[in-house]
Amino acid sequence: MQLGDLRSEYHQDGLLEENMAANPVDEFKGWLSLAIENALGDWYEPTAMTLATVDSSGRPAARIVLLKEVDGENRFVFFTSYASDKSAELATNPHATLAFYWGQLGRQVRIDGTVEKTDRETSAKYFATRPRSSQLGAVASDQSHVVAGREALEAAMAAAEAKYEGQEVPVPDDWGGYQLTPTRFEFWQGRMNRLHDRIVYQREGEGWKISRLGP
Ligand SMILES: Cc1cc2nc3c(=O)[nH]c(=O)nc-3n(C[C@H](O)[C@H](O)[C@H](O)COP(=O)(O)O)c2cc1C
Repeated sequence: MQLGDLRSEYHQDGLLEENMAANPVDEFKGWLSLAIENALGDWYEPTAMTLATVDSSGRPAARIVLLKEVDGENRFVFFTSYASDKSAELATNPHATLAFYWGQLGRQVRIDGTVEKTDRETSAKYFATRPRSSQLGAVASDQSHVVAGREALEAAMAAAEAKYEGQEVPVPDDWGGYQLTPTRFEFWQGRMNRLHDRIVYQREGEGWKISRLGP
């Protein structure tokens, strides 16, 4: 089968500028709620988003992370290893893009912004809510670095289990959150006949300017 033959029609109601929330974060929260209500089984992650970064030589990289919070200041928060490649990229270039895809709704949201680390307290608070196995995994894993093999990884996990047996797992120094402050949103809704809707919000002073782009 040719991948180009895999076309789907989109039946979702379209987007009209006058029906969009004045604040894109409110619009986003509505879309995320609908995606969560329409989640497709255990392995489907409605909060999964592609995080794109650029390194110091201008080369892009992208990977999936999970959105954990839209905080009180409308920042998009995710957690990761500060020793990872994405962290090295963000340290030299704080500009990043998030992209959500909710295929069952024919929807995409893209969010551009700048990223900074969350404070230690925010990271510790979230770390405490993680299952113990994930906490130990964060201790054991040297994210984005070469591992000698699966066995070495499992040995590191066993060592972390032994070290913290009967104790709380402390937040690793090289683990924590990032918060992205958005400067631009694009809400994409698939429509019939490929005349898809693309509504963009661009920061303008304290408010947001809304425009429509060709599909
Ligand atoms: C569904 C899904 C969710 C993921 N969530 C996270 C996450 O929240 N944080 C994280 O560091 N990595 C997460 N990962 C792993 C990343 O995609 C990636 O492999 C890892 O962060 C290393 O990326 P880097 O080498 O570019 O830094 C997730 C992967 C998938 C497929």
